[in-house]
Order: sequence, then C-alpha cells, then structure tokens
Amino acid sequence: MESPLPLPDLLAAGSLPTALAPMQDVTDLAFMRLLGKYGVPDYFFTEYFRVHEHSTPEVHIVDSILHHGTGRPVFAQLIGENLVHLKRTVRLLSGLPIAGIDLNMGCPAPKVYRKNVGGGLLRDPGRVDRIFGTLRQAIPGRFTVKMRLGFDDKEPFEEILELVRKHQVDCLSIHGRTVKQMYRGEVDYERIGQAVQAVPCPVFANGNITSAAKAMEVRSLTGCFGAMIGRSAIRNPWIFAQTRDLSLGREPIRPLLGDVRNYVDDLWSVITREDCLERHRLNRMKKFLNFVGQGVDDEGRFLHDMRRAREAEEFFAVCDRHLVEDGREREPFAAEPYAGVVARPNHE
Ligand SMILES: Cc1cc2nc3c(=O)[nH]c(=O)nc-3n(C[C@H](O)[C@H](O)[C@H](O)COP(=O)(O)O)c2cc1C
Repeated sequence: MESPLPLPDLLAAGSLPTALAPMQDVTDLAFMRLLGKYGVPDYFFTEYFRVHEHSTPEVHIVDSILHHGTGRPVFAQLIGENLVHLKRTVRLLSGLPIAGIDLNMGCPAPKVYRKNVGGGLLRDPGRVDRIFGTLRQAIPGRFTVKMRLGFDDKEPFEEILELVRKHQVDCLSIHGRTVKQMYRGEVDYERIGQAVQAVPCPVFANGNITSAAKAMEVRSLTGCFGAMIGRSAIRNPWIFAQTRDLSLGREPIRPLLGDVRNYVDDLWSVITREDCLERHRLNRMKKFLNFVGQGVDDEGRFLHDMRRAREAEEFFAVCDRHLVEDGREREPFAAEPYAGVVARPNHE
C-alpha cells in the first residue's frame, strides 16, 4: 500500500487546508449542513462512534455522513480500545461514503479516559501499538489519528509519533495540549511543529485556532499541512471561507452583527427541533451562542443577557437588542474572540 495515502483534493487548490474538528453533540448533520451555507471546511470529522461489546454505529452519526450534502469528504471517528470490536466497527462502516477512519486519542472526560479510551490511551503506548496495528490492517483506505501531546505530561509523545510512522497512519491531527490540560492553558505549537518534522503524513494543527489570520500564523509556526478548527467554527461559521480566501490572497468576508443575527435564526431553525420543549431548544441555542457571544461585545453584555433569557421571545429580544437595534447591525463581528469574554466550560 502506498504510504501515506494522499488526502482527497481541497476545495480550492493552493489554499490552506482546513478541517472541522470533531465535536460531540455539535458537529452533527444540522451543523454540517449549516456550514454548507456559510463556508465548508475541506474535511469533516464526525462525532465519535462509541466502540464496545454491544455497540452498533450510532444512526444519527451515520445520517450525518450520508446526508450532509456539502460534497466535502468526511472522516468517521471511533473511540474505543477493544481490538475485536474496533475491527467489527470498521467492517460495519466500510459501506459508507467516508474518506477514512479516525481514532480518537484525545477525549479528556474522566468517565472516558478511566476506561482507557480517548485520551486515556496516551498512557499506554503498548496498547496504542496493538490498536494501530489492528486498525491499519482492518481499514481498507485511510487510517487517521487525532491525539493530544500526552496524558499528564508530554512524555510519550515521541514514542506515539514513532508508532504513527510504523503503522503508516495517513493523517495526524494534534490538539497541542495534554489530556489533563483539558481546554485550558497555552497550546504548544512548538511540539506540533516537532511532530510535523517527525512523521511523513500530513499533520493538522489544532487548538485555539481562532481566526483565519491565526490559522496562517499557526501554519508558519509549525509547518503543518492544515488547520483543524473546533469551537471557533461555532462562534464564527465563516471561518473556513475566510481562511481559504486569506490564504489565496483574496479579501475574506467580514461579517457584521446583522449577519450574526441571521446566523442565530439559522441555528434556531436548524440545530433545534420544533417538536422539542422550548426550554430544551433554548438550552441548545445557549450552548452555541456561548461561543458566538465572544465576538459580539468586549464586556460580555450580550452573553450575560442571553444566558438569562427564559423564553424564546425574551431570547430573541436580547439578540435583537445586541445585534441589530440602534444601528448595531452594521457594526463588525470581531474576527477574534474578545479577551476576557469567556465561554462556559466545554464537554468532550
Ligand atoms: C463540545 C466539544 C466536543 C468535542 N468532541 C470531540 C470528539 O467527539 N472527538 C474529538 O476528537 N475531539 C472532540 N473535541 C475536541 C475538539 O475536536 C478540539 O480538539 C478542541 O476543541 C480544540 O480545538 P479548538 O480550540 O479549535 O476548539 C470536542 C470539543 C468540544 C468543545
């Protein structure tokens, strides 16, 4: 087999490659479709399929692969450690139109890593060796890995990179933090740069890539192949189009607060379901707007008011007040999150 297998073509040749980071309960069918409207990434990664004794591929994730309708390639992510069931799951997914299969080695949730899956695998390079060997053999096409720098320190990093080489992994995404850092602390782009030198496959840098300009900066810092973007794609769904344009020397779109107000309407109709209780729809909106609010005002007033809204009517009135009224709709939506305006803790 050729190693590594080349990735599918980019949307625009010569642009900085982008990928939507997998985010459980976020990067689903609805959100993928929404990015089809605002600007697709070159590559999608699904939420993770859980792999264990009784698992079958989750139908809603399969649906996201089948029906996103953007035309862009999708990598299916797995989380698990049992060799028999990983192989079984690869077989079950093999009939789907996927660009490859990705292994999650980064999830920092204690209930996950305690089972020695996700980020927990980084504590056991011997196990990683066996899993990589099994997946490499079982996957007929691209086998990709998403990892962090280590579990509680950055020790086994080089050993894992050696395994990436040994098993001819086709693409590596690196979130430049340890598992124990969760989402806090500096992202170590230098380490990502070391990985770029150490492995033959394309590397996606990941972690706090907050804008198109930051994506360009991270590429020059690390020499990475591309930028994988998670939370900032929720805040700013134009970010992939902006990155593509900036990297090609074109003027990127500069959304205004009025455009963000339209994004709120799109989120409401796409990511929440009409047949759900209003309270649940609002909670889901707040989860997304928690990120959007980081670009609305520098004191977090929108976030403060939005989080307190109890009914849809009040919620939309808050959105109108902060995003449209008194000429606000013509004000720019910040390209970077405002310093000190913090989204609530995330769950992986
Ligand atoms: C809500 C949420 C869910 C996530 N779910 C997953 C997941 O299913 N698989 C995975 O590999 N990483 C997951 N992540 C981690 C992201 O893919 C990414 O590595 C991390 O958010 C850092 O990138 P960012 O700073 O661009 O958000 C999740 C992150 C968030 C915020």
